[in-house]
Amino acid sequence: MKARLQIMDHLADRRLAEAMTTHLIIGGTGKTGRRVLDRLTGRGLEIRALSRPEFDWEDPSTWSSVEGRYDAAYLTFAPDVAFPGAPEAVAEVARRVLASGTKRLVLLSGRGEPEAQRAERLVADLAADHGAEWAVVRCAFFMQNFSEGFVAGALAAGHLAFPADAVREPFLDVDDVADVVTGLMVGEIPAGGVHELTGPRLLTFAEATAAIAEAAGRPISYSAITLPEFVTGLIDAGLPQDDAHGLGELFALILDGHNEQLTDGVRRALGRGPRDITEYAGSAAGSGYWS
Ligand SMILES: NC(=O)c1ccc[n+]([C@@H]2O[C@H](COP(=O)([O-])OP(=O)(O)OC[C@H]3O[C@@H](n4cnc5c(N)ncnc54)[C@H](OP(=O)(O)O)[C@@H]3O)[C@@H](O)[C@H]2O)c1
Repeated sequence: MKARLQIMDHLADRRLAEAMTTHLIIGGTGKTGRRVLDRLTGRGLEIRALSRPEFDWEDPSTWSSVEGRYDAAYLTFAPDVAFPGAPEAVAEVARRVLASGTKRLVLLSGRGEPEAQRAERLVADLAADHGAEWAVVRCAFFMQNFSEGFVAGALAAGHLAFPADAVREPFLDVDDVADVVTGLMVGEIPAGGVHELTGPRLLTFAEATAAIAEAAGRPISYSAITLPEFVTGLIDAGLPQDDAHGLGELFALILDGHNEQLTDGVRRALGRGPRDITEYAGSAAGSGYWS
């Protein structure tokens, strides 16, 4: 009898937990995902956050883990939504999320790469088919790539070599992305369309590196290299050949100059301007990222 009561308690706890879990984050440990998770849990919401091994974009047998009826789901693809084949995977996972009764879908996307745009269209069409709301958050190059991403080690070592010379990028603070996504998830920002987010200034990578060096209070140099040099460097550093070439192709697309324009997406969504790189660099330096 006692065991039966315990099982009933357990089932009741599980049902209660399921009823309270209102939002889904795919990529909950990533740069944007973990910030959205913090913001939503800070509001007392119960979140289901997925990443590997429970959910793996490379293993469709794990994709059923996204199924469930949520108020809203935040979908981030890894390694990059602009990679070939990403739109099909994104669409199938979005279909599963929507078919389970989720009412709002927010997709993290790149800024204008053909595969990213194809993923956006597939998600928008699927959401419309299921009578759900959708939003796409198109983002410029994240500032946090310099502290939490693939070039953080180079900056900490005092020299960044990157395949970008005169091209300017509207570097975007991931905390702004997380504020917008959180607003969309809880319905404070109306869904139904594309939010194109950039930071407040266009900077070359050399200028961004200088801003970081200034904040870190130590010399950090920058050199522009060619794409083949960049890819070779990644392979020498141990990245699998396919991933290194994939990244090379991605940067050829991203850094071709089409992103050299600012938007007012952050201000329109949040009613305030985006954070500047000096603010980001000061706070990341204070956290010891480049010490
Ligand atoms: N970085 C940028 O500047 C930038 C700009 C615009 C758009 N985006 C878009 O943002 C997305 C994520 O990029 P990010 O730089 O933010 O990545 P990130 O910080 O490295 O986060 C990636 C997330 O995906 C998870 N993940 C990695 N491989 C996975 C796999 N095979 N299956 C399931 N989950 C996996 C990671 O968790 P685990 O490792 O714990 O599994 C993590 O939660 C990409 O689609 C990219 O196009 C990025």
